Amino acid sequence: MILLISCNISFAQNKPGKNQDKESFLNELIGKMTLEEKLGQLTLYTSDMSVTGPVIRDTYKQDIMEGKCGNIFNAYSPEYTKKLQDLAMKSRLKIPLLFGYDVIHGHKTIFPLPLGESCAWDTILSEKSARIAAVEASADGLHWTFSPMVDISRDPRWGRVAEGSGEDPCLGSAIARAKVRGYQGTDLKSKETILSCVKHFALYGAPIAGRDYNTVDMSMQSMFNTYLPPYKAAIDAGAATVMSSFNEVNGVPASANSWLMNDLLRKQWGFKGFVVTDYTSINEMVYHGNVADEYEAGVAALNAGIDMDMQGSVYYTYLKKALENKHVKIEDIDIAVYRILDAKWQLGLFEDPYRYSNIKTAKTAIMTPANLQTAEEIAKASMVLLKNENNLLPLQATGKIAFIGPFVKNKRDLIGNWSGAGNWMQSKNLWDAVVARTAGKAELLYAIGANVTEDTVLIKKMHIQEFIDKRSKDELINEAIEVAGRADIIVLTLGESEGMSGEAASRSDITIPANQQELLKRIHAMGKPIVLLLSNGRPLALTWEDKNIPAILETWFLGTQSGPAISSVLFGDYNPSGKITMTFPRSVGQVPIYYASKNTGRPFDNNIKYSSKYLDIENTPLYSFGFGLSYTNYSYSNLKLNKTSFTADETIEACIEIKNTGKMDGSEIVQLYVQDLVGSSTRPLKELKRFSKVFLKAGESKQICFTINKEDLMYYNADMERVLEPGKFKLFIGKNSNEVETVEFEIK
Ligand code: BGC
Repeated sequence: MILLISCNISFAQNKPGKNQDKESFLNELIGKMTLEEKLGQLTLYTSDMSVTGPVIRDTYKQDIMEGKCGNIFNAYSPEYTKKLQDLAMKSRLKIPLLFGYDVIHGHKTIFPLPLGESCAWDTILSEKSARIAAVEASADGLHWTFSPMVDISRDPRWGRVAEGSGEDPCLGSAIARAKVRGYQGTDLKSKETILSCVKHFALYGAPIAGRDYNTVDMSMQSMFNTYLPPYKAAIDAGAATVMSSFNEVNGVPASANSWLMNDLLRKQWGFKGFVVTDYTSINEMVYHGNVADEYEAGVAALNAGIDMDMQGSVYYTYLKKALENKHVKIEDIDIAVYRILDAKWQLGLFEDPYRYSNIKTAKTAIMTPANLQTAEEIAKASMVLLKNENNLLPLQATGKIAFIGPFVKNKRDLIGNWSGAGNWMQSKNLWDAVVARTAGKAELLYAIGANVTEDTVLIKKMHIQEFIDKRSKDELINEAIEVAGRADIIVLTLGESEGMSGEAASRSDITIPANQQELLKRIHAMGKPIVLLLSNGRPLALTWEDKNIPAILETWFLGTQSGPAISSVLFGDYNPSGKITMTFPRSVGQVPIYYASKNTGRPFDNNIKYSSKYLDIENTPLYSFGFGLSYTNYSYSNLKLNKTSFTADETIEACIEIKNTGKMDGSEIVQLYVQDLVGSSTRPLKELKRFSKVFLKAGESKQICFTINKEDLMYYNADMERVLEPGKFKLFIGKNSNEVETVEFEIK
């Protein structure tokens, strides 16, 4: 008899023993792993998208079965993730795969773009949308989202402002915390929670000139006082994973930046989860020029504390050699493996690798009426009324109303960029909503009026050829003028298509595309009342529009429920309350522009030649941070502090009376700012410290009180010490960063 001995030892599924604790289970498992299997756990590959859904390359299938790939992204659905998990269960150690995906503003029920949603200034709603996204994503086989994106940005040229919460660290931090809570809940073992991933660590929102992927060059003070707080807030809220950014930080790419990952993130902030790179960031270091080749890049990344290589295969290809050459240590590889296995443990995947792949759950949890209703509620809260001369809005559902523009019947753009597994065909457009809303009451007219752009290169880049009306620009405008001629009032829907913001979508001109502007100007010349509805993913420069058009409503890209939400605001069924979270400039020449600027030694004064200003434009923005109108009005009065002089440890209480002086009930976003009048380092003119959304019935008054304390007044000085410096401060409460009531106080 011949005894066949196979070297391919197969183990039973690696389940924790009864009462076995995490540490002993994971260490035991790591003890059984070959180097190849360890590097496989540090590897994340994409599943490619096809017309019918995600597909995986055959080479990856083989890699999964051989334990060379421990993690997959862009794969979803219970059936498909189960098929892939089956492959992992054929590997020697049967370590479950982790499935990640960009669930950025919803999985299948799509919520407003994050920049839009931030304009609701409502952390309860921010948490709700993340919670629903997690429920839907987990029902669809996913374990991990690459969200929240918490990059502060003050440059609307950068296309990815669409994915963040705007320019302010206080609001950005509050939303970052809410998102982590929403995705992760209180227990990652629940089948309805997923790992969050704070990105892009760090400073990705500050590329020079707003050009995506460009160099970042920033003072330590700006970093610590402004750009880092939202990442830290998300970590403090328990974010399980972090994504390293494409850019350099202090001259060293984030994925090789040991100071950033080892010292700041892990030692100082106490982060215990794993760090994944952004897409091929390790490989890209060769272009950054901080390493000679991919081998060196892999060494630099591992030594900097990067645990998982997204798509680059650098760890898998080079770390074995690097270990032999003693350029990396096995202990560091083991630590990275441990962190990744730990995440799988926390999700309960070792107990049941299929626990997220349940066909029944997927059928009942996704795009439910309740989810769609919440999406509509959030969409309504995200709109910002920028102008409303003579109360042109809300419209009466009477007479003849013309709806003109590329976004009236459009469904494609509504779900915005990074819309995950969302299907734009399931989104509800404006036309259907207003037809239903005005049925039997008003006569509605329609013309497209303009394509979103006439730039053929851009059209090709954005793959929107099939959505382009083939008629000439003039034919479209002439038709619109004929239609407008028959109407009493014209609603124009203009802006950017979804592909004009987002990744790799920076613009040097942030106005409405020229052909749409031409349409607007021609219709305006007819002298009829016009309401302008804007669809866009970034602040636009709207100087002409603001001067000439009586009513302007910013609708961003509001997601699946766009149409009904916009219609509710248009016809006054909902009173808008959103406020912008990024400054709108008058012209791109003012960019970067933000409210928390400093005075300079030659403060702006129009009457002084040698003051800090432009010759050809005002210094002020078109719309200030925090600005947004309502169908009612609010008056602010009687701002009072509990005292005017405080010791460092005393609590400052500020109260103000707010009255709804109009005829409609509404919600007002009340904002509290502080200015440190004299600091050892120069301080911003205003910094947001608190905010609250208050509901007031028509005619109702309420006293609103906020408390702040020393934490709110501390900052990083020139020596990078976090200090509270005694002296005089101003405290402001108001409806936006520009219109405020002011009091002074002192810290002794
Ligand atoms: C983006 C990330 C995203 C990743 C995976 C990258 O291009 O920068 O934000 O999570 O792709 O899709």
